[in-house]
Amino acid sequence: MPRNKTENDITAEVLARFSETPDPRLRQIMLSLIGHLHAFVKEVELTEAEWFQAIEILTQAGKMCSDKRQEFILFSDTLGVSMVVDLVDHRKPDGATESTVFGPFHRLGVPDMPPGGNIAHRDETGVPTLVSGRVLDLDGNPVAGAVLDVWQTQTNGLYDSQDQGLDGLHMRGKFTTDSEGRYLIRTVQPVNYPIPSDGPVGAMLKATGRHPWRPAHIHFVVSADGYEPVTTHIFDRTDPYLASDAVFAVKDALICDFARHETPEPEATRLGIAPPFCTAEFDFRLVPATAPQATVMDAQRRLAALGART
Ligand code: BEZ
Ligand code: FE
Repeated sequence: MPRNKTENDITAEVLARFSETPDPRLRQIMLSLIGHLHAFVKEVELTEAEWFQAIEILTQAGKMCSDKRQEFILFSDTLGVSMVVDLVDHRKPDGATESTVFGPFHRLGVPDMPPGGNIAHRDETGVPTLVSGRVLDLDGNPVAGAVLDVWQTQTNGLYDSQDQGLDGLHMRGKFTTDSEGRYLIRTVQPVNYPIPSDGPVGAMLKATGRHPWRPAHIHFVVSADGYEPVTTHIFDRTDPYLASDAVFAVKDALICDFARHETPEPEATRLGIAPPFCTAEFDFRLVPATAPQATVMDAQRRLAALGART
């Protein structure tokens, strides 16, 4: 039956069409999404040309995605959406290690490393750095056998997957805690670096007067049987971009001292490291798992199964 449609009744009609969605969670998400999308379009009075420009941008973002590039994660990160998801989905009890964004540069299949293993074996210009600490529960008891999946840029500011001159994995490793919950990672001092800005995300940053820089950090996913995994970073306290991270991921509790040493120290000497070098100490505190959870790594494995990421 022909009807007049107005901007005031269209939203109700669309919502009604989704109201029989059988899965209650999907129904809740779709109804809310449509309500917010329609309200947004009406609030800014989006023109058809602007709507088409948005379609072009999303199409370009899709075309940029490959096994080495995830432009949609970059959009989510730079719009602050990833951090909102982090903050609402990972509310932690006091004392637990805070989480932060996963980012687009984690890779599956990295090698297991012994304590003190060097993830930066091909980086010849960085300042050698030892990162150590313990994985603990909320009562301060050690968590033995916890796995720390670590990744970081090289000193040239590039992840291995971005570096044309590099084949294979670099600046990545999996470390397992000993009976006292201790871990020890050899790497180089992290550097600040710009997120990829040669695509639609870069164009958005430029058009909105934003810079693409992230403060120096090292990524971790720390997991152990019986505990919730935590996806996080540690940040260098001296970095000038701490207050303006392009992806809003800095949390105070994740800021860490990278102390510079100009004279030999026994542990560094044992590992063949001469001054100057840095040390950083950081303890991770895990929350007991309550129910099995869908994790970001599960999602990444599904994406890899589609051939989208290795
Ligand atoms: C990263 O730290 O690897 C990262 C996070 C979000 C966007 C781009 C890069
Ligand atoms: Fe990073």
